[in-house]
Amino acid sequence: MTDGAASTGRARVFSGMQPSGAVHLGNLLGALTGWVTLQEDADCVYSVVDLHAITAPDDHDPALLRQRTLDLAAALLGVGVDPARSTLFVQSHVREHAELAWLFNCVATFGELGRMPQFKDKSAGRDASVSVGLFDYPVLQTADILLYHATKVPVGEDQRHHIELARDIGQRFNHRFGEVFTLPTAILPPVAARVMDLQEPTRKMSKSASSEKGVVFILDEPDAVAAKFRSAVTDSDGEVRVDRAAKPGVTNLLEILAATTSRTVEQAADEHAASGYGALKTAVAEAVIAFLAPIRARSLELAADQAELERILADGAARAREIAAPTLERARLAMGLLPPA
Ligand code: TYM
Repeated sequence: MTDGAASTGRARVFSGMQPSGAVHLGNLLGALTGWVTLQEDADCVYSVVDLHAITAPDDHDPALLRQRTLDLAAALLGVGVDPARSTLFVQSHVREHAELAWLFNCVATFGELGRMPQFKDKSAGRDASVSVGLFDYPVLQTADILLYHATKVPVGEDQRHHIELARDIGQRFNHRFGEVFTLPTAILPPVAARVMDLQEPTRKMSKSASSEKGVVFILDEPDAVAAKFRSAVTDSDGEVRVDRAAKPGVTNLLEILAATTSRTVEQAADEHAASGYGALKTAVAEAVIAFLAPIRARSLELAADQAELERILADGAARAREIAAPTLERARLAMGLLPPA
């Protein structure tokens, strides 16, 4: 099997994020810090997955999508994606993604897509009116990953099933048509793989939350971050300790503290065992504000330079295509599609 990264001897990493709203602390701690760290010793390919973002028709505003695509690219650079070392591009600029997704549509089954937890959540109660794109979303995600022969996919916990599906589809394709694809593994962070909403700590922090009070965005002003943590929902027993089931709010605060201060959640809990909830909230808010400060500054600066962003994304798309085009070609041949004369 050809691994696109074999020539450099480094592992290949792929991950993507939808331009469907502002980047929040869940995205940052669950996935993006992993994206940045992996650049040290892997060959990383990262994408703003705009074709995924159009699967939610309720929210589809073309002008807003264009703006969010650029804003997300600026945020990813602001977080630390380094275009000199990694490939950063917009998914729809590399047409191989959509074409490979079609080939995989003929390998994936209706049953396995219907069982995907994210599809079940998003389509609950409105089965007949959701787009086919929403149903097919994980197949496009499979194409994203497999086009680059990625072995590692840094994601938050909510994407685990999608990465397992990508393995299954890749394995089935290889079995039927010959070894073309490398099988990927999800890389989850040791802590904060599932950051919860500060107001509803039994729900994951999400761009589509009903209220922004429980969602910390990376561009929030420090005062807004402090206010969101001050009003975070906890519980009434007053004890600072880790217990995801019985104490989801406090555990979430401890996970966020651990992730933003490079400690384990146990260390964070021990250090605050004698604190009241008020002191814990203040400590987490301070840690998050300090963690976000350089990211916020860099993201805002980059967002102001659209020409530079477009240059980085064009360069990224050209580099991505160099890997994606030969992979797609091999898949087409393996399936028996007649090469054009
Ligand atoms: P998206 O855009 O919803 O989220 C981007 C990344 O953020 C992680 N994440 C979280 N992690 C911890 N706690 C949370 N509350 C939280 N919310 C979001 C997600 O797990 C994700 O890693 N389907 C993907 C995008 C995608 C992709 C890919 C990912 C498309 N193609 C190929 C990896 C590889 C998604 O919707 O992510």
